[in-house]
Amino acid sequence: MRVAIFGTGYVGLVTGTCLAEVGHDVVCVDIDQAKVDGLGRGIIPIYEPGLEPMVKANHAAGRLAFTTDAAAGIAHGQVVFIAVGTPPDEDGSADLQYVLAVARTIGRHLTQPMVVVNKSTVPVGTADKVRAAIAEALAARGEEITFDVVSNPEFLKEGDAVADCMRPDRIVIGASNPEAVAVLRRLYAPFNRNRDRVVEMDVRSAELTKYAANAMLATKISFMNEIANIAERVGADIEQVRQGIGSDPRIGWHFIYPGAGYGGSCFPKDVQALARTASQYGHQPHLLDAVEAVNNAQKGHLFALIQRHYDRGEDEGVRGKTFAVWGLAFKPNTDDMRAAPSRRLLEQLWEGGAIARVYDPEAMNEARRIFGEREDLVFCDSAYEALDGADALVVVTEWKQFRSPDFERLRKALGDAVVFDGRNIYEPQEIEAAGLAYYGIGRGR
Ligand code: UGA
Repeated sequence: MRVAIFGTGYVGLVTGTCLAEVGHDVVCVDIDQAKVDGLGRGIIPIYEPGLEPMVKANHAAGRLAFTTDAAAGIAHGQVVFIAVGTPPDEDGSADLQYVLAVARTIGRHLTQPMVVVNKSTVPVGTADKVRAAIAEALAARGEEITFDVVSNPEFLKEGDAVADCMRPDRIVIGASNPEAVAVLRRLYAPFNRNRDRVVEMDVRSAELTKYAANAMLATKISFMNEIANIAERVGADIEQVRQGIGSDPRIGWHFIYPGAGYGGSCFPKDVQALARTASQYGHQPHLLDAVEAVNNAQKGHLFALIQRHYDRGEDEGVRGKTFAVWGLAFKPNTDDMRAAPSRRLLEQLWEGGAIARVYDPEAMNEARRIFGEREDLVFCDSAYEALDGADALVVVTEWKQFRSPDFERLRKALGDAVVFDGRNIYEPQEIEAAGLAYYGIGRGR
């Protein structure tokens, strides 16, 4: 099938590439000329495992093109996806200006009947607004062309985006017209072998499903962070508690890892936006508000542990101390630092007068872009280089390569022989046996 995709961010680029991979003929449209030119030359603006070779192969095979020409994209497609960003507004609600701008563009250039698919995460009721914007632009041209607006939320995770997209666990299609559903079923047929993954529903339910999924996952994380904080006070170990509850299939093993707080471009924004929608419709979202509050507090927790350690000794808090910081991305396998817990930690360290020596396997360029040059920040080329002259180590992102360091080397390198483990990736006993002090999240130490 012929597909046009508006937006070459995470969702648009991954979706477009995976659709091309299974044989569809895809044109990706973006307003950013430099990005489009780069993509045409195989330069991928994001780090996402497996994406680059797939983009190059499909582009070379002629199934994946990039353009800034919206009219050409719309003329090409039998289906057009809206996959542009929905950043938070000042009040936390999702800003729809980019989504609606694409809708108007579609209305201005539509020449044939079309299924318009909303893939961006958008508040309940957005499909109606998209429909109205397209209809208005068509009416201004005096045209009457039939079109459908379908909600088809994306559930991919950064770092696993290609795998999630190629092997989805469900394909949610929210539509009011069975013909539009049939078009999407045909489009997704290559991803829907062996068992039917398509969940059909009405448009508003599909829109809410996306938020409900992310809010539920964020709730699990905040819940565990809360229990971790209780464990810390009562002298229990959250890691043992986690093992104790995860084996109950009603609770499950996934998304019950306490840590430095959830970050990224989705959970913080989506929990806020859903809370905002709830309030707008007259419902006070007590639980969602609490999920967000717990997470905000958790992002400061690692620094609180550090402060507690240094306030106890003869030191003047962290002033003049140097911290090796391992991991800057909001999670492993991405270079994304949006709402990353590392950002709060660094700001707190700097406010306290400390120096940070940072290393991340992928996010160094992003960190340079965000922080620029400053005296209290040293960019390092490796995890061990970050330890040079450091007093303490703070692990903020659980990259695999940080999991089993040479503890002897850590002890020799770190002036104060102390490790702050923001993701509970080490066994406290092992670190303590090497002569280092250990602090984790919810571990009573
Ligand atoms: C999330 C969802 O997992 C996807 O299903 C969804 O499609 C996506 O948002 C989206 O809406 O586009 P993502 O933000 O890429 O995906 O990352 P996650 O793997 O969900 O991690 C989010 C944050 O939660 C990270 O900061 C991670 O460190 C944290 N986390 C995750 C925990 O602190 N504990 C856990 O047990 C799991």
